[in-house]
Amino acid sequence: MLRHVLLAISKSERAERLISTSPLTAGVVGRYVAGDVGEVIGELTRKGLLVTVDHLGEEVTDQAQAEEAVAEYLRLPALLPAGADVSVKLTALGLRLSERLALDHAAAICRAAAVANVTVTLDAEEHDTIPGLHSVHAALRKDHPDVGVVVQAYLPDSLDRCEKLGGARVRLCKGAYTAPGAYTRPADIDRSFVRCLRILMAGTGYPMVATHDPRLVRIASTLAVLEGRDATGYEHQMLYGVRPDEQLRLSGQGARVRVYVPYGSDWYAYLMRRLAERPGNLAFFLRSLLSR
Ligand code: FDA
Repeated sequence: MLRHVLLAISKSERAERLISTSPLTAGVVGRYVAGDVGEVIGELTRKGLLVTVDHLGEEVTDQAQAEEAVAEYLRLPALLPAGADVSVKLTALGLRLSERLALDHAAAICRAAAVANVTVTLDAEEHDTIPGLHSVHAALRKDHPDVGVVVQAYLPDSLDRCEKLGGARVRLCKGAYTAPGAYTRPADIDRSFVRCLRILMAGTGYPMVATHDPRLVRIASTLAVLEGRDATGYEHQMLYGVRPDEQLRLSGQGARVRVYVPYGSDWYAYLMRRLAERPGNLAFFLRSLLSR
């Protein structure tokens, strides 16, 4: 219930004006969003962690905004260490305006990334953008076979999706939005996640296991061993600011761990989704506001 309220608030322009212009939120934002992105990437890299970098912004409504987002993403790869990844939301590139526009923009980003030895992963967003996401991903893979895509386990067709994505880099997550017909009970989402994991680990692609859930992290590592994958055959992914000790623990054990690092001023919807995921995060948020 609370999750649905917070996700609804994440789309409210009025709430966004109120919250994002308040100086009181700065401390909370800083926990999840990189202030100085170069510094954060340097620090994570020195600790042996990999990064995927997200320039915050989504749901653009005109071409000029989409072009601004693309310009930032064209600059980004050259600033990243080799082996880094960039995470891209197609609605920031103009998917709501036209699929062709988003494809052209994403293709330009893939070309810039390839020059810098950086990969690109397409984030999964609201349910009505998922067909466009997979159609753009399939088109991009013709020239950029290593472009990755996100599958949300809360969607009942996620299993089919994983089967169809044989050979691809696939980031599996639970799903951060709402969708008609989506699994909502944690047990159902977890079951779907594990079924998808089995397909991905047994397949020929590169699984990216995006969860902070200790049980799912353990299951992923076990399935990888059972399927004969070594530490380079898959990776764990976690969000900047979430379970940093666990990121280091896994990496210290020899696992590949990639941290999703968002940066930029358009952090409102991202932060609201993080709060919706975890009541503890909300308590932290409210405490930070009240203690000022
Ligand atoms: P969940 O939030 O259900 O938590 C399960 C358990 O994990 C908790 O009970 C606790 O034990 C532990 N845990 C979680 N947070 C913790 C914390 N702060 N401190 C301590 N323990 C904690 N979604 C989407 O729809 N599209 C996308 O493209 C992406 N991309 C993406 C990339 C990456 C790298 C990550 C990690 C996640 C995403 N997501 C996403 C978000 C994802 O769908 C999901 O909403 C969040 O990861 C939260 O789900 P978890 O699997 O982490 O577990």
